[in-house]
Amino acid sequence: MTPTRSILGLAIVALVGGSASLVGGGLAGSQAPPAPNPATKNPHLGNPQSIRSGMALYRIKCADCHGLDASGYRGPDLIGVMAAGVSDERLFQTIRNGVPGTDMPAAREFDTPDDDLLMMIAYLRKIGTVAPAESPVGNVENGGRLFAAQCASCHRVAGRGGAIGPDLTRIGAARSRAALIREIRTPSEWIAPPFETVTVVTKDGQRIRGVKKNEDVFSIQVMDTRERIQGYMKSNLRDIIYDKTSLMPVFDPGRLSDADLNDLVGYLSSLRGADLSVR
Ligand code: HEC
Ligand code: HEC
Repeated sequence: MTPTRSILGLAIVALVGGSASLVGGGLAGSQAPPAPNPATKNPHLGNPQSIRSGMALYRIKCADCHGLDASGYRGPDLIGVMAAGVSDERLFQTIRNGVPGTDMPAAREFDTPDDDLLMMIAYLRKIGTVAPAESPVGNVENGGRLFAAQCASCHRVAGRGGAIGPDLTRIGAARSRAALIREIRTPSEWIAPPFETVTVVTKDGQRIRGVKKNEDVFSIQVMDTRERIQGYMKSNLRDIIYDKTSLMPVFDPGRLSDADLNDLVGYLSSLRGADLSVR
């Protein structure tokens, strides 16, 4: 009896330990036995030459999404992430493995050696000592109300809302405040790829405007503003107009005051739904 029981006990301990390390390891979520993490002994920390190389690498590989000053653009504010106390090991894992199901690529895919990652971390730690750029945000509750009234008809959060725009369940983890503000004030500046605006004109002159869901040489699929997805044979169409204007309306200060914008962005930043598998 006793041996069985202690084996069972061990198995339970192993299970609990495994899931705890999954939680702790967070986004990387590797279940393999912990291999030594190179970031634990990073020879580049504080080394001016490494920091300079790390900066050059960062600018090439990361700045497009996280901003030249790492305060975030399409990707989150890394200064803020560091201010929140992320460990070097966790940073390393995230950069090496990416975040599956999001825009965050795995460094592996670009053949970036571990040593380059360590230099980038040395650079980020150097610039990460300044005050976090993401200052306290507005009234999240009011932001939630504004969202329900002005945005939810097109955007889904946690399974509720419209589908013509992107699901925003995790938008707070995925985008910086700066990117959110630009998207709301000037939506056409950057259009998320599966949401390009298109107008198809049928032979009898009917015009259907919506987001392009799919297109090949012969056909095109469009979701119209009532969320109906229709496929059209191009041979049956008079014209296809590829629009550079987002289907999302411009929320300028006349429509959404700066104070309301601040509350709304506060609400959006709080959306960090963790389940990546649903995306
Ligand atoms: C194509 C855009 C893109 C590129 C290039 C990119 N990232 Fe990201 N990154 C993202 C997005 C989007 C997220 C948020 C993922 C999510 O939804 O959780 C992210 C998340 C992260 C995180 C996790 C932040 C957290 O909340 O813990 C780190 C760290 C990070 N990126 C560092 C880097 C570094 C360093 C590079 C360059 C080697 C890089 N990223 C390149 C888009 C990008
Ligand atoms: C009529 C439908 C519609 C309304 C209303 C609308 N949006 Fe959008 N939104 C879209 C579409 C379509 C896109 C994708 C195209 C683009 O990126 O501009 C989008 C994109 C976005 C993005 C970018 C998502 C990403 O992955 O980067 C954010 C953030 C956003 N909307 C927030 C809002 C907020 C906040 C409101 C309310 C103030 C709002 N939207 C109102 C249709 C809408």
